[in-house]
Amino acid sequence: MRRYARIIGTGSYLPPRRLTNNDLAAELAQRGIETSDEWIVERTGIRARHFAAPDVASSDLALEASRKAIEAAGINAQDIDLIIVATSTPDMVFPSTAAILQHKLGISNGCPAFDVQAVCSGFVYALTVADSMIQTGAAKRVLVVGSEVFSRILDFNDRTTCVLFGDGAGAVVLEASDQPGILSAELHADGSHVGILCVPGHVSGGNVLGDPLLKMDGQAVFKLAVGVLDKAARAALEKAGLQESDVDWLIPHQANIRIMQSTARKLKLSMDKVVVTVDQHGNTSAASIPLALDHGVRSGQVKPGQTVLLEGVGGGFTWGAVLLKM
Ligand code: UT7
Repeated sequence: MRRYARIIGTGSYLPPRRLTNNDLAAELAQRGIETSDEWIVERTGIRARHFAAPDVASSDLALEASRKAIEAAGINAQDIDLIIVATSTPDMVFPSTAAILQHKLGISNGCPAFDVQAVCSGFVYALTVADSMIQTGAAKRVLVVGSEVFSRILDFNDRTTCVLFGDGAGAVVLEASDQPGILSAELHADGSHVGILCVPGHVSGGNVLGDPLLKMDGQAVFKLAVGVLDKAARAALEKAGLQESDVDWLIPHQANIRIMQSTARKLKLSMDKVVVTVDQHGNTSAASIPLALDHGVRSGQVKPGQTVLLEGVGGGFTWGAVLLKM
């Protein structure tokens, strides 16, 4: 009998400071940067985002989201035997945010903990790794978290990027089960596109070399994203022997409503089958899918037994899809 990885609890957390487009536009105006609610809504669907306070790290957001997921799962934190955090904004160069999170959660059972770095595809990558480790028997209860403080790496003098991103965290607890959970996964990367979305700076000899702020060729990312997402989704469906019409909910990476609409259209799914949080969260990178999933679960949209298709796309260039039964 196949050993599945089933989601038994979800949680999420947004830092309290919320900025509407008008709030952000007013702040940017003080720097002489011009933008508007109209432009941001029309081009992206984003209306607001949350920014963490300066002393709040990814592991702090991850801690809040994890506590909620663990509570929803009805387990004790000590029962977790693997922690994977997807993040591109880790607390430190090392150790991993996952190791820091393990300590903050008070988990003292010595379970492995590591980060996955696949930018906005990070959560589908992390979920796929967790699924594999559950299937092989290497793990039984896994905490998978996407957590980001993208506000730290935004260039607030670049209006083409700083209006797009926000901070937040989402988490799931996976458990080994003989009942279907994760059905299939499809992951990809094409490193020839490193330059279209990157934070090129790095630490060397005690200094930051290169620009440590986010750079994006938005149109190139947009074109690649709409070209690959439906194919990854179809490949995941095919592996599981399912059709597009079997999908109850599409929960895509929340970067731009126009990318989400295009993918839904290609998969012949109406927008009322798509969980949308980009309007309220902006693009929270690796956190966006688990944030949207938790929103879907807690709002009563996403119900036990339903078939859910997650898909991520982002820097690397990376992309992928995970198909699962709730
Ligand atoms: O998470 C990883 C995945 N990331 C993404 O999926 C992002 C993908 N890309 C996008 O979502 C879109 O390309 C953007 C939202 C980034 C940009 O939308 P666009 O429709 O491609 O706009 P554009 O770059 O073609 O810019 C159109 C105009 C330009 O002015 P001109 O040259 O036509 O006069 C920009 O200077 O909009 C201007 N503009 C802005 N205006 C007001 C760019 N940013 C802003 C802004 N406010 N914030």
